[in-house]
Parts: sequence; structure tokens; C-alpha cells
Amino acid sequence: MSDQTGSIESHHLPKGATAETYAPSPEFREQANVTDPSVYWKAAQDPEGYWAEQAQNLQWTKPFSEVLDWTNPPFAKWFQDGELNVASNCLDRHVAAGNGDRVALHFEGEPGDTRTLTYAELTHEVKRAANMLTSLGVAEGDRVAIYMPMIPETVIAMLAVARLGAAHSVVFGGFSAESLRARIDDAEARLVITADGGWRKGRVSALKPTVDDALALNGGGSTVSRVLVVERAGNDVAFDEDRDLWWHREITAFDGEHEAQGFPAENPLFILYTSGTTGKPKGILHTSGGYLTQVSTTHRDVFDLKPDTDVYWCTADIGWITGHSYVVYGPLANGATQVIYEGTPETPDWGRWWSIIQKYGVTIFYTAPTAIRACMKVGRQVPEQYDLSSIRVLGSVGEPINPEAWRWYREVIGAGTAPIVDTWWQTETGAIMISPLPGLTPLKPGSAQVPQPGISVTVVGEDGAPVENGQGGLLVVQRPWPSMVRTIWGDDQRFIDTYWAKFGDRYFAGDGARLDEDGDVWLLGRVDDVMNVSGHRLSTAEIESALVEHHAVAESAVVGADDETTGQAVVAFVILKSQQSILSLDDAEPELKKHVAAQIGAIARPRQIFIVSELPKTRSGKIMRRLLKDAAEGREVGDTTTLADTSVMQTISDRVRSER
Ligand code: WT7
Repeated sequence: MSDQTGSIESHHLPKGATAETYAPSPEFREQANVTDPSVYWKAAQDPEGYWAEQAQNLQWTKPFSEVLDWTNPPFAKWFQDGELNVASNCLDRHVAAGNGDRVALHFEGEPGDTRTLTYAELTHEVKRAANMLTSLGVAEGDRVAIYMPMIPETVIAMLAVARLGAAHSVVFGGFSAESLRARIDDAEARLVITADGGWRKGRVSALKPTVDDALALNGGGSTVSRVLVVERAGNDVAFDEDRDLWWHREITAFDGEHEAQGFPAENPLFILYTSGTTGKPKGILHTSGGYLTQVSTTHRDVFDLKPDTDVYWCTADIGWITGHSYVVYGPLANGATQVIYEGTPETPDWGRWWSIIQKYGVTIFYTAPTAIRACMKVGRQVPEQYDLSSIRVLGSVGEPINPEAWRWYREVIGAGTAPIVDTWWQTETGAIMISPLPGLTPLKPGSAQVPQPGISVTVVGEDGAPVENGQGGLLVVQRPWPSMVRTIWGDDQRFIDTYWAKFGDRYFAGDGARLDEDGDVWLLGRVDDVMNVSGHRLSTAEIESALVEHHAVAESAVVGADDETTGQAVVAFVILKSQQSILSLDDAEPELKKHVAAQIGAIARPRQIFIVSELPKTRSGKIMRRLLKDAAEGREVGDTTTLADTSVMQTISDRVRSER
């Protein structure tokens, strides 16, 4: 826990927030999936009963008799004696139900190439890929690393791994060789699936060379025996004949016959790494039956999905949890038709997203506040050139959405009528936890509002006692939920220490929150040393340790400073080694930015780096990041009396101000 917790008490509702509410229209309510408000109290009376009922929407090869085993908290087991195959729940059963001709994926490549896969075709491809992976030795209990662009093969690869009862570890394609290698080693992956490259911002962004670099690190020895390479961008890649295989060549040997086997509900489905408060990313482990139950339930109810008429589009990359839960598993378990797009919103111009919505008739659109703000900046005249009248539900995720962006989103993208579901959740929660239900909840711009049926969330003070309405504190989840993180891969103790040590058997989310007079939840941001940049989590400690790995750096402190577009931005304060002669002061900033991007990935590149001669420290030597954040945000610096040297902050603020 950090020294920033105290500041939560002084938080007020976000700027611009008012008591305005937007009730669901009668027309929307009329057709909505959930319209009876008693769903909340019924589920609250019997949460396990509620989730057991939801689980019946899946196909179990062996039914479960026990819903939840919480005898050994915080290690939950959901539906543990049941068995199912996650992939066949997303594929075969839709085909068997006569929906094989329904489109599963409308793929749009950044250069404009397209591909459509029906449920029958996707099922066929996943079966072939499963046979190919079996031939490469992949079996139940293995881990497979996936380092891919946003293309259909990424979905196929994940589902093929899941179909075999193995677990995938998808690493976002923007991560560096070092970051990829650390994740491969931690999970002891035996296979890497990658592509030559993908398209981003009109150019090929290579991936395979980064895999080569990753596997060459630490003297070359790793757990990986094979690298399977999808041909996507046509860039030249080196090939190690003993290790590397082309997907398109291998796959020709395999047909589409593959009988899916059931695996225990608690069989690991995937590991996804996320930043914590230390330099080492946490391998968040998700399992099968409970995860699939909650992602499919929330995807159906929060987005009001009608699988045979809706066209759903979530813009998240599959490398993040939003892509896992609301591109792959939730939508496909529900038999939805969806769009996946490879590239960036500004390629070839800022009309790209809106042209895709128009082209495919997208009805449900799910994106992040940072993207909405970027589009706002460009101006409403761009989306106004497109027919967006198909849109009927809008979603937001990743950070609190500021009311101004909320109103713009509703008015300009949602024709002033589409409900906006502001969904709060985390990599650890696996699925949406707090969100309006669009047919029921009068919406409040800026608030995620209501815990989902069957989910018990509250706000507590430092002492663990619930706060009253109108008060702020820390967000906790009071009861286990089906899609919860099961542990940190290989580190049960860190799992306990991070989430459970603070409030006993209640889950501590790491977010500050406030309850308004109606008891609705307003999220106020992280209370630990985790930043949120464009809806992505970054650890201050991880960036600090990347900086001090540079030979010219003696010490560093990193803070997340408010940023108009990205929510927060990385701002670093760096002390150079006095002996160093390599870096001139002018070169230091660009060189160190590049260094961080190379070490961790481009998303971690600091917005600003200030070279300073001292950092503000308490008498016991603890860096006071809170003061640096004040300076980075151009505020009057707070109380400096506990500093060993009170003049340090003056020098730093002067330095920051001179650059503004
Ligand atoms: C953190 C989790 C869940 C997918 C994307 C991020 C922040 C997320 C909201 C929201 C306010 C939000 C929280 C949370 N967050 N959604 N609707 N309102 N804050 O997943 O990388 O695991 O980050 O994102 O601070 O703890 P993640």
C-alpha cells in the first residue's frame, strides 16, 4: 500500500459530474434482456444459486454438483466437479444448434483486406489447429505463449490451445523482447505462436524478430522448443530450421476432425501478466468453468446482446484482458457476430473506426475513454460523415470516463440515445463487476454505478468498515465470484499479500471509490503505485527499474501524471551518475525514453523525463512520489515538512515549470 491512500478521502466527484441521469428509453426497455429489477435482490439472496443458473447456459460434459468451494480462502473453486470444453462451448455447440452459417468474425485488416469466418468455418480451423498443436506435443497442463497481431489466427490459436486443455499466455505485441522473455520463462511455455508481423499505422510492425531476440536472451536456453509463425505481413524473417515452423505449411497436414474432450472446471485456461506495485509483472491465472460463466453472462446482459441480429465490436487488443473476455470468450460463448480490426483508429485517417461501423452495421460498440477523448480532439465533423445509426449500445472500459467524454460519446456516436455502459473490472476480476444494465439503470455520466447481479462490492475505510453513502474509501469485493483470479502463477504468497492481506477474505481491488447518495459507485483511480495510461496498467517500479538499468542513471522516480488524452502519462525524474560522460543533458531525455520503450515496450515510454540532481526523500529515505506528482501536474507542491531537505522540491518544481 502506498502513501497515496490518504488522498482518497479528499476526492470529490470528478470534475463536471452532476446529478444528471439518463433513464432507458421505453423502446430500449421493451426489448432489453434484463428488465426486472428484482434480479439484483434475488441474486443477492442466493448468489451461488444465481451463478449455478447462469452456468446452465454452458454445455457441460459432466455436470457439477457443487457450486462454490470457499473452504480454503482466498483459493476459490467454482463448479469443481463439473467438466467442460471451453472451446467447444464457443464453437461446436453453435454449429450443432444450427448456427454454423452465422458469421463469427468479420476481420478487417489495416491495409483494407477482409476475411469473414462463420461459426462452422471457425470451428473447422480451430479443430485443424488443435490437431497441429497436438502433433507438436501440446497437451493438457502445458503453457503456450502467443505473441500476435489482431488477426483471426490469434483467436484460432487461443481456442486451439484451450481445446486441448492447455493454457495460453498471450503477450501483447507491443511488449519488448525482454518483457516477452520474462513472461515465457515465468510460465515455462513450451511453444510460442507468433506472426512475421502485423500492420500498424500504415506500416509493418515486425513480431517474429522480437521472438528471436527474446529466445536468444540469457544465453539462449529456454523452455521453448518450437516457434509457430503465421504469415501475415510478408516481412522478411530469419528462420531457425530446427525450431521454427510456418503455420500455413504445417496446417495443410491436418483435417478438421477433432473430438473435444471435457476438462475439469478448474483447469487453467490462461495466464495473463499485469503490472503490480513491484517490478515483476504478476501472472494472473484464470480457469475454465467459472470464467466462461461470468464472461458470457455479463456479455449477454451488460451489452444486451441479441446473437442473431447484433453486430458487436470491441476495439481492445487481444493481448489485454478485455480482448480475452470480450473479444474471444464472452462473445463466442454467446454465439455473437463480431468485428475484429487489426490496426489503429487513425489509419489511413480518423474516419477508419466509423467507416467500419457503417460497413458492418455495428450495433454494440465497446471502447476506452482514452480513444473517445482522442476522437473528440479530432472533432465531431469526422464521425458525422458516417452513418452510425446502427449503434444501439455503447460501452466504456479501462478508466473512469469523464462526463464530458461521456456526453460526446452518447451524442456523437450514439445519436443522443444509445445507453452507455461504463464497465469497471480488472485483469484479476476476469469479467465485468460494476456496470449499469442498459434496460434498467438510469445512467449517470462518470459512474460505473451498480455491482452486477451476484456480485457484492462495497467501499470501506482503512479500518475495513463500510463507508456511508456520500463517502469515499477503498473498493472491495465481498464474496468470491466465478471469474476471479485463482492465484498469481507460481506465487500463492504474493496472491495472498496483494489482494487479501488487507481486508481478510474480502478482495482488495487497489482502486479508490466513492458511494454517492444513491449508493452508486464512482471509481477514483488506483491507490497504489500503479498507473493507468490509455487504459493500460503500468507499474512505477517496473519503469524505475528499467531506467536504473541504463548505465548513465543513478536513481529514478516515476509517477503517473494527469494527461488530457491518455488519462495518465508516465513522468520520470532521473538522477544521472556524476561520473557518466556518455550522455549530454540534451541527449539524456530522448535516449532514456528510447531505453524504456526498448526494455518494456512502447506503451511504457515516458511522456517526459526530468533530469534532476536530487529526489525528494523522507528522513528514512523513502521517495515522496506524491510531491513529484504534484509538480508533474503543475500543482502547488503539497506538504514538504517531512522531507530530509525541503529545498529539493522547490528546485524540481522550478525545473518542471520552466518546461511547461
Ligand atoms: C484497472 C484495471 C478491465 C479491463 C481494462 C483494464 C481501471 C478499469 C474502469 C472503469 C474506472 C476503471 C481501474 C482498475 N478501470 N475500468 N470503468 N472506471 N476505472 O484492466 O489493466 O487490469 O486495469 O483499470 O483502476 O483497477 P487492467
